[in-house]
Amino acid sequence: MIRTLVLYSSKYGSTKDAARIMALIMGPAIYCSVDEFKPEYREFEFIVIGSPVYQEKLEPSLIEFVDKNRDWLKEKPVSLFCTCLDKNGGLDQLRSLEEFMNIKALSMKAIGGRLILDKLDEEDNVLIKEFLKLVKLPLENMDFYNQEEVVNYSMKLKSHKDDLLVSLDENTVKMAIEEFLKSHNTCTLATCHSDRVRSTPIEYNYIEGFLYLLSEGGEKFANLLLNKDVSVAVYEDYTGMNNLKGMQITGHASMVEEDSEEYSSVLKSKGLNVDVIRSMPINMNMVKIVIEKVEFLNSKFKMEGADAKQIYNY
Ligand SMILES: Cc1cc2nc3c(=O)[nH]c(=O)nc-3n(C[C@H](O)[C@H](O)[C@H](O)COP(=O)(O)O)c2cc1C
Repeated sequence: MIRTLVLYSSKYGSTKDAARIMALIMGPAIYCSVDEFKPEYREFEFIVIGSPVYQEKLEPSLIEFVDKNRDWLKEKPVSLFCTCLDKNGGLDQLRSLEEFMNIKALSMKAIGGRLILDKLDEEDNVLIKEFLKLVKLPLENMDFYNQEEVVNYSMKLKSHKDDLLVSLDENTVKMAIEEFLKSHNTCTLATCHSDRVRSTPIEYNYIEGFLYLLSEGGEKFANLLLNKDVSVAVYEDYTGMNNLKGMQITGHASMVEEDSEEYSSVLKSKGLNVDVIRSMPINMNMVKIVIEKVEFLNSKFKMEGADAKQIYNY
């Protein structure tokens, strides 16, 4: 299991808001300010460090923290972010921090920050006037904080985290996936388009990298016709944290023509009589899902010295 520590400093809350979102998406994770840091957090496997930019510098308490903790920090995979008004300047600061820490960060990102003038303390009120004059910006509130920007960066962090997983060899994972899919027959198919989302429990057949679904029709097709991207979950009931088994599949859906060879052969493999199905008074629609990626959480993988979560790209 890769746990993420999102360490930040923040004076007026923008960097804290970003840190909270990152921890939420990265989970298992904790976000904490440098003042709240506890020694046991050194055990976390992935570290994200964030600071606001004040007068073209990162926050001094964060720099001080990094300086004091550089020995263990440089042994960890680290990503860096800042919140700021001038992203180019922010990125320069992150590069300097990377150098100061003597690390190669997995990624770094300057995120739009907020400036709410009537929230500033007296000292900052004076300083901001000088700063805005210097960079030729008007003395007014600025809100460049954009939740979507933070969410998108959090997804990038999540992909770094997935790269850190202790993996089993590809064949073993693929075999485990196929065994699981073949020993179950019902999935939850998630489809969406625009503001319409739909979760459908449905029987499936797994055949050589594809999922086939047979359906009389329904609202899921309103989504599938307009957006082929799907997510499919197959899972067992929860019985305990040490017995988790479930997978999330990412894929693309398409319709299988009724008069095609593929349609007949899938029906045959389901033990259905093709002629009977074709003579039914209603259409039986077949959906084929091309599997792109499987994220398989299986507590048993831990017994083999690997992470419980394994990712396989088809
Ligand atoms: C006194 C002062 C100086 C600032 N200097 C800079 C700066 O040099 N570069 C920049 O991009 N943003 C600057 N900012 C904007 C802050 O980086 C931005 O408001 C940030 O989101 C604040 O983070 P926080 O809410 O977590 O404290 C400054 C803001 C203040 C109040």
